Amino acid sequence: MENLKILDKEFEILIPHSEIQERVKSIANQINQEFENQEVIFLSVLNGAFMFASDLLKEIKVKSKISFVKLASYQGTTSEGKVKNIIGINEDIKDAIVIVIEDIIDTGLTMEHVIKQLQEYQPKEIKLATLVFKPDTFKAHYDIDYIGMDIPNNFIVGYGLDYNGYGRNYKDIYTLVEEK
Ligand code: IMP
Ligand code: MG
Repeated sequence: MENLKILDKEFEILIPHSEIQERVKSIANQINQEFENQEVIFLSVLNGAFMFASDLLKEIKVKSKISFVKLASYQGTTSEGKVKNIIGINEDIKDAIVIVIEDIIDTGLTMEHVIKQLQEYQPKEIKLATLVFKPDTFKAHYDIDYIGMDIPNNFIVGYGLDYNGYGRNYKDIYTLVEEK
C-alpha cells in the first residue's frame, strides 16, 4: 500500500481495515455478553471516535442509546495536556450504565478529565472503550475496560484519527514515518 502524505508528514500503513474490524467486533461481543438484558448509554467522543463508534454500534445488540460529546481539539503530534469541558450530553445519565467510546488513549489525561466530569452526573457505572491504547505513555490511574489494540508510542492517523484535522477519512490506520 502506498504511503500517505498529510501536510508536511509522511505516513505508512500500520493497521489494515480488516484487522480494525476484527477488533471492533471483539469489543462489541464483550459488551453484548456483559450487558445482556441491560440498558446502556454510549457516549462517543468527537471528532476522533466517529468511525469507531459507527462500526461498534452496528455490532451492538443490547438495548442502548448513543450521544456524541465533544472536547478540546488536539493540535500537532504531541498531547498538550489541556482539556475543555464536555459538551453535548443530551441523555439523562443519572443511574445509567455509561460506556465512553474513544478513538485513542495516549497519556490518559483527556479521559481522566472526562471521567471526573461524568461522575458529577451520578451514573450507575462508567466503562471505557478505546480502539487504540498507547501503554508506554499512559500515566493516568484508571482501568480501561475495552481496548481494541495496543500500539507503540508513535503518532497515527486514519479511521477517525487526525493530524491537524486531516486524515480522518482513511479506513486503515497509518503511522508516522520517522524522518532520517
Ligand atoms: P491523551 O489525553 O494523551 O490520552 O490523548 C488523547 C487524545 O489525543 C485523543 O483523543 C486524540 O484526540 C489525541 N491523540 C493522541 N494520540 C494521537 C495519535 O497518535 N494520533 C492522533 N490523535 C492522537
Ligand atoms: Mg479524541
